[in-house]
Amino acid sequence: DMQTPSRKLDHLQICCNTQVEAGRAGFEDVRLAHAALPELDLEGIRLQTRFLGAELGSPLFIAAMTGGHPATTEVNRRLARVAEEFRLGMGVGSQRAALEHPELEESFTVVRDEAPHAFLCANLGAVQLRDHGAEWAERAVEMIEADALCIHLNFLQEATQPEGDHDARGCLAAIADLCRDFRTPVILKETGAGITAETARLIWGAGAAAIDLGGAGGTSWAAVEVERTGGDEALKALGQRFLGWGIPTVVSLCEVAGSGPVIATGGVRSGIDIARALALGADLGGMALPLLKPAMESEDALEQTVRAFLRELRVAMFLTGSGSVRDLAQVRTYITGTTRQMLCE
Ligand code: FNR
Repeated sequence: DMQTPSRKLDHLQICCNTQVEAGRAGFEDVRLAHAALPELDLEGIRLQTRFLGAELGSPLFIAAMTGGHPATTEVNRRLARVAEEFRLGMGVGSQRAALEHPELEESFTVVRDEAPHAFLCANLGAVQLRDHGAEWAERAVEMIEADALCIHLNFLQEATQPEGDHDARGCLAAIADLCRDFRTPVILKETGAGITAETARLIWGAGAAAIDLGGAGGTSWAAVEVERTGGDEALKALGQRFLGWGIPTVVSLCEVAGSGPVIATGGVRSGIDIARALALGADLGGMALPLLKPAMESEDALEQTVRAFLRELRVAMFLTGSGSVRDLAQVRTYITGTTRQMLCE
């Protein structure tokens, strides 16, 4: 699983204090067609969009990070307040710990308390879903009155962490069972190794409402786990071998775009990256690590960070002649480098 109580604090601290990004997501290989004559008023550009029926203030999505330890409550409170202020969609971290230990629920319920109108996504691992079924899914959704449920896939992490789950059998069937009659939309999300066209077909076939690509090139869970191996040198070496593993976010996006609602996460590092993702067919651009550091600092720091990303997005829209998110989806892109090579195969 992504986390149980003390692991959560380890993860937050490791992600803030060490280099946990590996490889390239491919955004530097994507250039947007510049509109030298945009014929728009920068201030009049509309960032609003819709996703799974919800009205969002912008396509910046706060990807799942935390909750499940009392010390994470404040981070989730800040993320939620900013989600409410900017009407952003937001995911919480894995709720496994709170499902096992209800006294930890407050670190999640704070999110709905602070963001009564936000589009919130509950979070559970595919392995937990398989082992506990729809009852846990239902409780995770109820805990935060979620608008959608993210089921995360993280087998790279499971295989490289000391306490990992090594049996992935039965997860697809569990997902299909859940989607069959669950009243809340289910989003399948990777966590840094990406989704191929073939995997996407399996996911749509199982009945998911959306996919969060969680591609490679941003936070690497192999890198995070390398920091947590204790004295186990063999496990550390294993993690290091897999630092660059996975489908880069941009390649994954090109494989999956157009097949259904998509969130592009993994190495999205600016408002321009969000614009690139949308031009390539994503509905939302998700960010985790870039929001974690300011969220650990203060609400003010987080708000300034989000404001800066949204301003970059607005300028990118202006310079591509996109008055709205719908226009941005039509912008022509140039794809170069490794990304182009991978897509040509
Ligand atoms: C995560 N991520 C994550 N995902 C998930 O589904 N459940 C979880 O509990 C967590 N926990 C978590 C903690 C921390 C500290 C980070 C940084 C990330 C994964 C996250 O949602 C995202 O998919 C990846 O981090 C890739 O995005 P970035 O970080 O490259 O923007």
